[in-house]
Amino acid sequence: MSAPRPTAATSGRRVRGVRPRRYLMCSPVHFDVVYSINPWMEPAKPTDPALAVAQWERLRSLYLGLGHQVELIDPVPGLPDMVFAANGATVLDGTVLAARFRHPQRADEGPAYADWFRAHGYEVHDAVHINEGEGDYLVTGDRILAGTGFRTDRRSHTEAERVLGRPVVTLELVDPRFYHLDTALAVLDHEEIMYYPAAFTADSRRTLRELYPDAIEATEDDAAVFGLNAVSDGRHVLLPEQATHLVDRLWSRGFVPIGVDLSELLKSGGSSKCCTLEIRDRVPGAGA
Ligand code: ARG
Repeated sequence: MSAPRPTAATSGRRVRGVRPRRYLMCSPVHFDVVYSINPWMEPAKPTDPALAVAQWERLRSLYLGLGHQVELIDPVPGLPDMVFAANGATVLDGTVLAARFRHPQRADEGPAYADWFRAHGYEVHDAVHINEGEGDYLVTGDRILAGTGFRTDRRSHTEAERVLGRPVVTLELVDPRFYHLDTALAVLDHEEIMYYPAAFTADSRRTLRELYPDAIEATEDDAAVFGLNAVSDGRHVLLPEQATHLVDRLWSRGFVPIGVDLSELLKSGGSSKCCTLEIRDRVPGAGA
């Protein structure tokens, strides 16, 4: 962000702490838009693979610069959406629920990510029901917010609750532009979120209002530039800087928004969160 902002000392706003993260990412060397499984994807529109890689590299260096760890999985030729690592699995307390994709074009990504986790010593649970990993499963402090409506099967929510051992809250998406939960809602800190209400059914909006009365509500403009496809480490929030209303709201809550440009990946309907799978290892000494 270029505009000078008041410091915590001058504004009196709260200073938030960073929790260092471990992320898994996949280089977009094979990225392209060759099929269309969401309204953003137009195979006729040209992509620029070198620019996609440069934008993705910038995201990776931002994470490293903020003190986070970034693991890499080898990209597989013929899987142009594999860069969207968030869809590869859901990992909580060292337990991995493998992804099982809705569309055949992405089916082979599930086993590719599961193999990476097995090779790195994780216990991997193969999924019975369709689920697109952290695209639809967002972990908060106490629960898992779970999307359905376009990709992840509602029955997977029960499976995730059992495998990952944390209560799951079902949220139903209704706008095809926001087909994964992580395009309509972002977790900022333990129980702090931001979301775009119109992306959800009336019932799910009610649930969100009850659980998170203080949530930041995004405007349609924020959502349309993928402002909710954001990654927070508790203090820094990486998101497209075009989401100006969200950027202002985040500053006023004591977060530090950092603008990222992933315009190439947006041609496939993805941005920073889609490129980032959080590996949540078991914290030694923490209770069950
Ligand atoms: N083209 C991909 C798809 O439609 C984009 C996935 C974006 N990932 C995400 N976590 N929202 O599946």
